[in-house]
Amino acid sequence: MHATALALFAAGALAQFDPLHHLGGNSPYFLGPNVFGISPDAPEGCTVDQAGFTSRHGSRYPDPSAYYSWTNLSAKTHAQSFTTNASEFAFLQSWQPVLRNPAAELSALSPGGWKELYEMGVFYRWLYPSFYTENTPFNLWANRYQETVFRVVDSARLFARGYLGPPAEVEGSVYVLNNTDPRSIANSLAPSDLCANYNDDSGGINATTWANIYVPPIVDRINGLFHSLQFNSNDVTQFPVLCGFETQITGRRSPWCDTFTPNEILQYEYSQDIRYWYGTGLGTQLEKNLMLPFLTALVQRFIDGPTATYNNTNSTGPPFHPNPLIATFTNDGQISQLSAAIGVFDAQPQLPATYIPANRTYKSSNFVPMRGTIGFERLNCGYKGLFMRIKLDDQVYPVPACQQGPGRSCPLQEYAAMVAGKSAKAGDYEVECGIANASVVPVGKDYTTFLTDLNLPWEYVVKP
Ligand SMILES: *[C@@H]1O[C@H](CO)[C@@H](O)[C@H](O)[C@H]1NC(C)=O
Ligand SMILES: *[C@@H]1O[C@H](CO)[C@@H](O)[C@H](O)[C@H]1NC(C)=O
Ligand SMILES: *[C@@H]1O[C@H](CO)[C@@H](O)[C@H](O)[C@H]1NC(C)=O
Ligand SMILES: *[C@@H]1O[C@H](CO)[C@@H](O)[C@H](O)[C@H]1NC(C)=O
Ligand SMILES: *[C@@H]1O[C@H](CO)[C@@H](O)[C@H](O)[C@H]1NC(C)=O
Ligand SMILES: *[C@@H]1O[C@H](CO)[C@@H](O)[C@H](O)[C@H]1NC(C)=O
Ligand SMILES: *[C@@H]1O[C@H](CO)[C@@H](O)[C@H](O)[C@H]1NC(C)=O
Ligand SMILES: *[C@@H]1O[C@H](CO)[C@@H](O)[C@H](O)[C@H]1NC(C)=O
Repeated sequence: MHATALALFAAGALAQFDPLHHLGGNSPYFLGPNVFGISPDAPEGCTVDQAGFTSRHGSRYPDPSAYYSWTNLSAKTHAQSFTTNASEFAFLQSWQPVLRNPAAELSALSPGGWKELYEMGVFYRWLYPSFYTENTPFNLWANRYQETVFRVVDSARLFARGYLGPPAEVEGSVYVLNNTDPRSIANSLAPSDLCANYNDDSGGINATTWANIYVPPIVDRINGLFHSLQFNSNDVTQFPVLCGFETQITGRRSPWCDTFTPNEILQYEYSQDIRYWYGTGLGTQLEKNLMLPFLTALVQRFIDGPTATYNNTNSTGPPFHPNPLIATFTNDGQISQLSAAIGVFDAQPQLPATYIPANRTYKSSNFVPMRGTIGFERLNCGYKGLFMRIKLDDQVYPVPACQQGPGRSCPLQEYAAMVAGKSAKAGDYEVECGIANASVVPVGKDYTTFLTDLNLPWEYVVKP
């Protein structure tokens, strides 16, 4: 390529830099980048005959603690008159948090989240057009999360509306799994909530190490733009958060998105990677294993195949004939744990805490943003056999140790063996969690059954 053309290309690439795609868990949903250049369509000679996904809830309003740090920031900027010549901060003179009725909004899905979930439902209906037949039942699952917070259940309801269309209210059933009922040990969409030894330390010392390196220069640069106003590191690390949240709440690009340089945004993104990797991901000993019971049951569904039927425990009703799409919704911690179980990051070296490695494939922005999705596809490739393929935010990620199938997929039985190997290494769920209690769930009986049993006493149905 001609040198001038190269320079123009580089300038164009910079002009296209979108901070909203680099905010880790604080990004609104976007279609992930096609990192491996693998077509998301079924490979030649294969069809997707069964699929599943585990998705984080959609874009939401802040939780109370984040919101109070925004109101504090607003109070601070209005406590005194300040001046700045930086045009990207001109908005700050009149800035107020965008929530209009916090009591009703905090922790719930935002309008941007509603849009993401409806669109997601329609997207999957069109992606797998043979999976759903009008006016037939469709079951999906949601983690109950907290008693008074409905963002996960609402995400599942809205997905069902998009996926099913008008019959959703009749045909759709969201099975809500009570993550704190002791009988749901290893048998919910958030097993970590009953694991006494579970400790998400948000990246601990590694997160602190990186923050101490990347944050102070940003604080200094920004403070240099102001007279009579000085920010601290807690203030400044809210700016990217506000960029993500204000944009999905209002549908307008937040002015906060221009307050960090692209390079600073990438440093913030890496802090989110460290937060998930060392908090709940492959940088942990116990936490990384907690979605293995779920993954084991999910893979078994793919081995059973799309036409399998199941008898619900203690039910005299008809057997359960599930849809080929296995739709599940939960929270970011569980998405992060699951990302550690699925194998696609097993060749990623431990993340350094003092610099950003040049070529990491592990980027939390690409699978744990709002509505971040880990997808599974069973590829039926005729005489070649059955294969498993993983998608993160709807783009294909090969499993480094098993990618010899069509489109770099993994033979289904080998994938099952990989998951079984990880489970064996992880040990017994209750023993590792320090909760062995034979009177509730005996050791050895701690595994996931909810994907094949609609009659568990810790689940209840919510209509879309
Ligand atoms: C907000 O400011 C108050 C008063 O300074 C302080 O007590 C509180 O911890 C702050 N909250 C957050 C979330 O920063
Ligand atoms: C803004 O520019 C004016 C005029 O050049 C200068 O006097 C003032 O100190 C500048 N303010 C800041 C905050 O840099
Ligand atoms: C979930 O289980 C806990 C513990 O058994 C119980 O206190 C709570 O009421 C249950 N919540 C719902 C919504 O069923
Ligand atoms: C379900 O129950 C029916 C009737 O009792 C039985 O014939 C069938 O084998 C059972 N299926 C499974 C998968 O257990
Ligand atoms: C099925 O019924 C038996 C006998 O009432 C009971 O002990 C068991 O807990 C029930 N199983 C489930 C999954 O509800
Ligand atoms: C990154 O590149 C280095 C050097 O080429 C290599 O050793 C490492 O395995 C690569 N990491 C990933 C995740 O590809
Ligand atoms: C991350 O933290 C753990 C201690 O929690 C430490 O053993 C490890 O060396 C740290 N890793 C890096 C890359 O700093
Ligand atoms: C085991 O569970 C039962 C029923 O919830 C409870 O009463 C008992 O205290 C538990 N035992 C231990 C050792 O946690």
